[in-house]
Amino acid sequence: MGKTLKLGLFGFGCVGQGLYHVLHETRGIKAEIKKICVKHPEKKRALPDSFFTYDKDIILHDPEIDVVVELIDDADAAFQIVKAALQNGKHVVTANKKMLAENLEEIYHLQQQYNRSVLYEGAVCGSIPIIRNLEEYYDNDLITEVSGIFNGSTNYILTKLFDEKKNYACALAEAQQLGFAESDPSLDVQGFDPKFKLAIVLAHAFGVFVKPDDIVNFGIDRISASDLAYAQQHNLTIKLVARAFKTGNTIHGLVAPQFVEARSPLRHIYNEYNAVQVRGAFSEKQLFVGKGAGGYPTGSAVLSDISALRYGYRYEYRKLQQHTGTVYSNDITVQARVRFPADQVIPLHHFLELQSGYAGARDQYLIGRVHIDTLKAWSTDTATGLILAPEPDFAPARSIAKPDGLLVA
Ligand code: HSE
Repeated sequence: MGKTLKLGLFGFGCVGQGLYHVLHETRGIKAEIKKICVKHPEKKRALPDSFFTYDKDIILHDPEIDVVVELIDDADAAFQIVKAALQNGKHVVTANKKMLAENLEEIYHLQQQYNRSVLYEGAVCGSIPIIRNLEEYYDNDLITEVSGIFNGSTNYILTKLFDEKKNYACALAEAQQLGFAESDPSLDVQGFDPKFKLAIVLAHAFGVFVKPDDIVNFGIDRISASDLAYAQQHNLTIKLVARAFKTGNTIHGLVAPQFVEARSPLRHIYNEYNAVQVRGAFSEKQLFVGKGAGGYPTGSAVLSDISALRYGYRYEYRKLQQHTGTVYSNDITVQARVRFPADQVIPLHHFLELQSGYAGARDQYLIGRVHIDTLKAWSTDTATGLILAPEPDFAPARSIAKPDGLLVA
């Protein structure tokens, strides 16, 4: 494509403005924003009024616009925009992880149906080029695990808690002010945002479409003062870890806080930085590190997708094409430290192995092995806190023999 790509932009928040700047500060990419569709006419904008429209059809029906860049907050409205853009013959670049995670299989089919591309590098771990790497570089490698820190806001908060001794509310407020957090920050702190990213990674790493509801997520919002004290006493820190991995022909996914030892590479990922570790049968371990949130880093990933469209790039969903017969399952167990209120009868029958326990005046703790289905139930019970062991030692449920007579609730 020799001509200048004309872009129709939806949304002009943190990432939209970041894209505007990186687009104007880079040379060599022939693309320009023709119109920006925004929701609130009353808001003061940094660009002249002539850039803006409040009517989505002005962009969607403009034959001159080649690419719709979707950067709005509302996942349902975003999906309607993506569908309409494809139906109108436009390529799409989006950073909307929730919208993608909830509709990925349909978006895959829509791309075939309309022979147009939907690219979304900016949706997963900001500036880290993980999706295109999973598609292209790891095409022939047998990936066994993709894991790491997939959310900048929570990593920022955890850094402030552990390394700067700030309190949670203050650290969260900073993450919001810096534009890292979602407009509804519970999506970050409860682990939904990294789960959406994990659902996208699952498709590109293992060729499975998994609905976010089928992936268990625990957040960092239940980390207590005693959890922090325990971590510090044992020279550990806590990171929110998203993990997609394979046992045999089965794929698993989980987002949960995890104790991390001083020697772990994740220990040294600070603030809004993200890290993605890929394990392959032949390549072994590789770690990608980069800023996972913020207008410029995410804008740079969006820009890279726009640039890729200039040479007709499309995701081929290669792992899906390879038909490896893999299935997604939550039938897996993990080692964790679980916190219950002091007055609660501990449901011992949920523990498949027990390592140790402790009862304090306010809380009681058990360290042991639990099934992911149990984690799912606990994830909706705010009284229960959970942090995975430093070596969580995932094992298929069937391989764990529950000791007879030992564990009775
Ligand atoms: N709220 C997200 C985060 C933004 O903190 O990682 C980037 O996806």
